[in-house]
Amino acid sequence: MKPRVLIIDDEEAIRSSLKMIFEYEGYDCLVAANGPAAMKMVEKDSPDLIFLDIKMPQMDGMEVLKRLKADESSPPVVILSGHGTVKTAVEATKLGAYDFIEKPPESERILLVARNALSQKRLTDENRRLKLTFDERYRMVGQSAALERVWDAVKRAAPTNATVLITGESGVGKELVARAIHRNSLRRDEAFVQVNCAAIPEDLIESELFGHEKGSFTGATEKQVGKFELAHKGTIFLDEVGDMSLKTQAKVLRVLQEGEVERIGSQRTIEVDVRVIAATNKNLEESIERGDFREDLYFRLSVIPIGIPPLRERPEDVETLVQHFVNRFSAENNAHRKTFAPAAVDALKRHVWRGNVRELRNTVERLLIMVEGDEIGADDVAEVLRRPGDAKPASPEAAASLKDFKESAERAFLVQKLRDSRWNISATAAAIGTPRSNLYKKLEQYGITQEKDG
Ligand SMILES: Nc1ncnc2c1ncn2[C@@H]1O[C@H](COP(=O)(O)OP(=O)(O)OP(=O)(O)O)[C@@H](O)[C@H]1O
Ligand SMILES: [Mg+2]
Repeated sequence: MKPRVLIIDDEEAIRSSLKMIFEYEGYDCLVAANGPAAMKMVEKDSPDLIFLDIKMPQMDGMEVLKRLKADESSPPVVILSGHGTVKTAVEATKLGAYDFIEKPPESERILLVARNALSQKRLTDENRRLKLTFDERYRMVGQSAALERVWDAVKRAAPTNATVLITGESGVGKELVARAIHRNSLRRDEAFVQVNCAAIPEDLIESELFGHEKGSFTGATEKQVGKFELAHKGTIFLDEVGDMSLKTQAKVLRVLQEGEVERIGSQRTIEVDVRVIAATNKNLEESIERGDFREDLYFRLSVIPIGIPPLRERPEDVETLVQHFVNRFSAENNAHRKTFAPAAVDALKRHVWRGNVRELRNTVERLLIMVEGDEIGADDVAEVLRRPGDAKPASPEAAASLKDFKESAERAFLVQKLRDSRWNISATAAAIGTPRSNLYKKLEQYGITQEKDG
């Protein structure tokens, strides 16, 4: 598409000469002879770039600039300064004008400034879009009383430095809550460092958390900075904290108590200022009973406990969540927005979501991909929720997308391996080389349950 430039000047000669220059270079060019007319054009034609004269009857350039800049997504403005208005033009750049050009404008300079301003605009637009999708991805929706209580706790916890322990079943939104706390805290512009304690092999977790010096153990060929150090001034999110070994727990406790870390193989202690948020889907009290979790660490972590109830206890959130996921997917895939028939939403509300919000999200996504028409009906929902227990992956021809194919293959693989080990989770996890917690997550994600006679 041609870039669109708007020239605002009360002098006809300037308007027509600039218009000629721009049109010759392949731009789309609009002109306005005064401020009020220009404001209307900005609204209606959304130009990508504006050239603005300062001295004009009715509304002067500075006033136009102020009004334009009131909208933070306004296009860049280049000031055209006449004799005696250079000082004002400099002022204008302080008010957010991109640059200024002295009259009479030379075509080379005009075109150069235009190109620069437009490439800067593309960057800002891109950033704004990324930030929007990022914010959208981590936005929490739902209005059940249960979720409101979670929100209240988030708001109370956010401005403090207190350690937060988030608990809840898999897929309820623990990570989302952790991010919301960070985003609403005074540390929001600093790092948010996530560590999945269950996914890191036991012998590597300490070096992951605390770092190591080069040559401190076999395999330590390079120095590594630990996550605690990386999170300095920011927040560290210890996910699946219930899966840490007792040895690692002791070290983490020390960091929390002393506020300092020591890289493996170094005598030097490094002070760290880190806010800790932890999450687990385990019942830590039971782990303490069994001797798998240190009670003192538990007390340190759970200064502010936040429990997120499972989705089945707050069916009021289902409809809002469905809407949210539909919007997100159509925006991300640039797809036509499909709707859910009321009966379909009811069916989703009635379903018992063992995989919680994550499972609901996957189901909505599957429906959006698989249903051909514009409206998703109750029978489509029933079809997708009735997961056949067979261990056969979809044939490549039958799969709607790569993602579908991968998921159905993964599901079939897991069911087969579980059968092989007679549904012993630990044995299966070991056999396929994945942490148990990850396997549990997959079972929930795919709604795999042990077969009665299997
Ligand atoms: N209230 C909510 N609003 C919007 N999306 C949500 C909400 N709760 C959860 N989600 C979405 O559901 C998915 C699972 O959420 P999240 O990863 O935070 O769960 P979790 O509790 O950390 O799960 P796990 O224990 O498996 O790590 C994510 O895609 C998340 O964006
Ligand atoms: Mg999580």
